[in-house]
Amino acid sequence: MVVSEKIKVVAFVGSPRRGGNTEILVDEILTGAEESGALVEKIILNELDIKPCQACDGCKNSDSCIIDDDMEQLEVKMEESQVWILATPIYWWGPSAQLKAFIDRWYGIYGGGMFKGKNIILAIPMGDSNEKTARHTVGMMIDSINYLHMNLLETILAPGAYSLGEIKNHTETLEKAKSLGQDIIKRIA
Ligand SMILES: Cc1cc2nc3c(=O)[nH]c(=O)nc-3n(C[C@H](O)[C@H](O)[C@H](O)COP(=O)(O)O)c2cc1C
Repeated sequence: MVVSEKIKVVAFVGSPRRGGNTEILVDEILTGAEESGALVEKIILNELDIKPCQACDGCKNSDSCIIDDDMEQLEVKMEESQVWILATPIYWWGPSAQLKAFIDRWYGIYGGGMFKGKNIILAIPMGDSNEKTARHTVGMMIDSINYLHMNLLETILAPGAYSLGEIKNHTETLEKAKSLGQDIIKRIA
């Protein structure tokens, strides 16, 4: 397979905490995916300038968003990749503001047909030991995925991961994440 034909996997990480549970979980998926021959990239949303949607409907009168920030460069990465990892810690039963701001900005671009058929992995750690804590976040993501005709490949929840790096003790979850990455090419073939 030549490089240009490689499957591209992009992770959009919604946690501001570098080396945190969300990033560790994502790294496992990406390591597996890279091992299996995919091109991988990790985007730390908190380190980019992604302003919240202003609901100005400027995007309805032109073919792009009127906000001039880093979303434009993300659109290119979204377009070019076949698999998106949407990763967020649970904050107050919902996704982090960083991930939500990113998703809200899809409003300006979803009409262009880029979303249909994208393969999605959800990666979601949370402090609570009951994974039901993620139900609103997962529900909101699944409704959005269905609305945009995307394809949910897998949801990896990591309950009981609170402090920085605590997820390293969750060996089963990390193994699951890595083997999901290793299987990605097969899963989307
Ligand atoms: C602002 C904030 C709100 C949080 N709200 C919840 C919550 O509602 N339920 C929960 O289980 N954990 C909650 N947590 C804990 C995080 O989900 C948990 O620490 C997670 O592992 C953080 O991921 P990170 O290490 O990638 O930042 C919250 C943490 C913060 C900072």
